[in-house]
Amino acid sequence: MLRASFMAGNAFTRSYVGYVHAIAHSLGGQYHVPHGLANAKILPVMLKEYRKTIDKKLGKLALISHIASENDSYSTAKQKMIDFIEDLNQKMNIEEGFSEIQEEDINSMASRAEKEANPLYPVPKLYSKEELARIYLKLKK
Ligand SMILES: [Fe+2]
Repeated sequence: MLRASFMAGNAFTRSYVGYVHAIAHSLGGQYHVPHGLANAKILPVMLKEYRKTIDKKLGKLALISHIASENDSYSTAKQKMIDFIEDLNQKMNIEEGFSEIQEEDINSMASRAEKEANPLYPVPKLYSKEELARIYLKLKK
């Protein structure tokens, strides 16, 4: 676990993070949601948001992780990875969505997430403030 933490830290100090973190940071700032918990809840939602743009990369990761087989298309392999993550969250009793999110806070949080991520984060797709606001609504419980 220590080695994995080191490798993860090494990776994201070289290449930044993505919208999962940008959204999680705003939820931490606004409602004090623990960052790791926020990331866990947002990850599958954001991976679904990216749709086909991540099929190949996430599909390959699913194959390397033995979550998918070589017979699976990238799209199927990607879906198996997302299912795996959702299953893992369930096993750890991590509920979907955030009851903390208040509609009146969404625009300011979307604005902060947009400013944090654009243009430096290496995301598969750039989202506008309005598109991010839609994702916050999806995350609202
Ligand atoms: Fe982060």
